[in-house]
Amino acid sequence: MQLNPLESRGALSIAACNSGKSFADRVMTELRRIAKKEGDETTYGLKDTQEIVFPNGEVKFVINEFIRGDDFYIIQCIDDPLSERSVNDNLMALVTAIHAAYQSDPDHITAVIPQFPYSRQERRKTREAISAKIVAQLLENVGAQRVLTLDIHAEAIQGFFNYTKLEDMHASGEIVDYLIHQLKLDIKNLVVTGPDVGSAEKARHYSKRIGTSFAIVDKARDYSKPGQIESMRLVGDVKGRNILIVDDMIATGGTMLHAAALLKEKGAKDIYAAVSLPFFNGNAVEKIEKAYRDGIIKLVVGTDAVFWGEAFVQNTEWYEEVSVAPLFARVIYNINKKRSVSKLLR
Ligand code: R5P
Repeated sequence: MQLNPLESRGALSIAACNSGKSFADRVMTELRRIAKKEGDETTYGLKDTQEIVFPNGEVKFVINEFIRGDDFYIIQCIDDPLSERSVNDNLMALVTAIHAAYQSDPDHITAVIPQFPYSRQERRKTREAISAKIVAQLLENVGAQRVLTLDIHAEAIQGFFNYTKLEDMHASGEIVDYLIHQLKLDIKNLVVTGPDVGSAEKARHYSKRIGTSFAIVDKARDYSKPGQIESMRLVGDVKGRNILIVDDMIATGGTMLHAAALLKEKGAKDIYAAVSLPFFNGNAVEKIEKAYRDGIIKLVVGTDAVFWGEAFVQNTEWYEEVSVAPLFARVIYNINKKRSVSKLLR
């Protein structure tokens, strides 16, 4: 069956920057699955593009196909553990890709960035930049009309855009589904917590979704040193209970591991952690491995929004990956077909 062309925003065309390719391949597989189910006979494939890196590190993105009038999406995973390219390199690759699209005249341009870079620098404490605002304005200025992201660290970043729409998707549906239906976690004995007050809302959301109680860990940071935690306190009872720590990300692992140590000290049994963005920066993998061997952490569940590859997932006993590619594919498909996405963003 051919879908009615009036019920779409134009030909759906999707491309990926180099670090977004693996995730984009998964999104395309899901998109084809959705299309088949819908009786949509369009052949969906990634656009032919090139990301050229010059010897001095500058980058250029070229789109080798016609995209005039299309509904165009560019996928990039900015923090890519499998690449030598830095976050800044990948941000610049994305910016040049959006601008290449802008020059090629599609009707709509959407940047699909499961990890919104610099999202932790969304306000100023001293003489410093509001870097999340710089990123927002950069994306808008080069031509992104919409940005799709996952569990952005600070929702206020939406307000840094003037005309570009920011759609913030949530991994909690996929993660809870995995915890209950695949891991078969005993939810009767479970307490959900966030590793700091900032993640309390997320913890409340997870606890409601799972149907269990929650506790709060209060973390104070020493802002004179990057990534340094000053102290932690617990509000709530965790004695003899299994714990699920939820957060938007694990970066160095310090926040999650400090919380886990505190919870153990207060008598918690098995400790699980679930995060949307498992960056595992620096020596986080080694630190979590040690905590796993020491019996502090039982399991970390992350998503493929940070793509670690099959070998890592298979060889890391303490790690399980949940895919958010079906969620992204469905949101992209619905936007293209002018359908509602609000339920998918919860
Ligand atoms: C902080 O507010 C965030 O939600 C994370 O808890 C934090 O960024 C994780 O960083 P790290 O793993 O380096 O402690």
